[in-house]
Amino acid sequence: AAILGAVAVLGYLLGSIPFGVLVTRIMGLGDLRKIGSGNIGATNVLRTGNKAAAVATLLLDGGKGAVAVLVAGALFGPNAAQLAGGAAFIGHLYPVWLRFQGGKGVATFLGTLLALGWPVGIAACLVWLATAVVTRISSLSALVAAAAAVPLALVLGQRELMPLVTVMALLIFWRHRGNIMRLAHGTEPRIGGKK
Ligand code: G3P
Repeated sequence: AAILGAVAVLGYLLGSIPFGVLVTRIMGLGDLRKIGSGNIGATNVLRTGNKAAAVATLLLDGGKGAVAVLVAGALFGPNAAQLAGGAAFIGHLYPVWLRFQGGKGVATFLGTLLALGWPVGIAACLVWLATAVVTRISSLSALVAAAAAVPLALVLGQRELMPLVTVMALLIFWRHRGNIMRLAHGTEPRIGGKK
């Protein structure tokens, strides 16, 4: 129990590193929370116009979830891996460093999923990509991918991941409620759009 507690705390702390804010600041692109949607994720970093910064944020935010899963899994097995991934995801959404005002969890969700079980991870990434190609809307792609991940885990024989994936998908919807309102009103910006 003490070990699992430590896994959860360390996973949370790793997940709570706001790479979007750090990358944007280090590259001299300004205060990310005053740009675009104000979100700390790769989509909003892209609104600075710097693609390298956005890709770096995507890889680092995804990578922190994957690293949490892989390290905990190697040391303590599959249950610890899920705990660490879930904790990293929560850390990204509610980081103590930003007064618990964190991101929407999409990159960290995908990174965590890839490390927990690559088939469902790849499938979720492909759903995100396909939706993004068709609609050019990042938030909609995230919502479709998150919703699809639960049945995908079932179909791909990764039933053991379904509870965690369901919780993460629900939290992604919760964190996108502003985006969902804009989607309903037809005012959600497109990737690479003017606003
Ligand atoms: O990854 C977050 C994305 O789904 C939406 O971001 O900045 O458009 O609200 P944003």
